[in-house]
Amino acid sequence: MNEMSTAADYIQSKIGQAPEIGLILGSGLGVLADEIEEAVKMPYEDIPGFPVSTVEGHAGQLVYGKLRGANVIAMQGRFHFYEGYDMQKVVLPVRVMKQIGIKTLIVTNAAGGINEEFEPGDLMLIRDHINNMGTNPLIGPNDKELGVRFPDLSQAYSRDLLGLAKETANELDIKIQEGVYVANTGPVYETPAEIKMLRVLGGDAVGMSTVPEVIAARHAGLNVLGISCISNMAAGILDQPLSHDEVIETTEKVKSNFLSLVKGAVEKIVEAGATA
Ligand code: 6GU
Repeated sequence: MNEMSTAADYIQSKIGQAPEIGLILGSGLGVLADEIEEAVKMPYEDIPGFPVSTVEGHAGQLVYGKLRGANVIAMQGRFHFYEGYDMQKVVLPVRVMKQIGIKTLIVTNAAGGINEEFEPGDLMLIRDHINNMGTNPLIGPNDKELGVRFPDLSQAYSRDLLGLAKETANELDIKIQEGVYVANTGPVYETPAEIKMLRVLGGDAVGMSTVPEVIAARHAGLNVLGISCISNMAAGILDQPLSHDEVIETTEKVKSNFLSLVKGAVEKIVEAGATA
């Protein structure tokens, strides 16, 4: 709680108007932050209470500014459970962004395709998730100031935002998939047997993030839009090993569609007044 307020106070001292939309940019997707105008950049190590991010392909800073006319704050790089941060640290930035005013959170990630109809380079709107991490950021005493003890996740991903993102994709002629995101802890990629299991369980894409942040966001009453970039097919689908280099290469290739989709969605969110 204290960490949260110290971080929020620091950020507020650096920015102008309150941001309406928060963005979490996944592996290889941090380029979106370069599109933010009048940018105020805050390296994580300068923000009191913030952990420091360690993964390749993550710059590790908050970027505040204007995107398509909206005041936004973006995390260029996130904190992963597999890095050794506890769940409280992983979700701290979401709570801080809520405290400084965001109403909507756009979460993005690079994920492996489980659904065999997907191909690397596809963008998938997250319709729902499966928390396969074996833990949860809300375990522990509930802080009533943050949210209720037993949050409802029956619409974790806002149907309105999903519809609006689909509309954006159609208008821009961007191919879009929709599906269920499964979060594993990582840092290993799954075995072929695990992927087969996750497919039977209803998963379409798999990754190592996002679910903790979405749980904290819903606890805090934020509207959530989730977008996965299918960077590779999960184990056992193609006869080839998986690598982080492939993840980064594919995200490079879909960069322009990803940027257009997110910017278009931001514009529509503002128009729809979903930031009120
Ligand atoms: Cl195949 N699995 C997981 N857990 N995370 C990923 C991935 C696969 N591809 C990109 N990120």
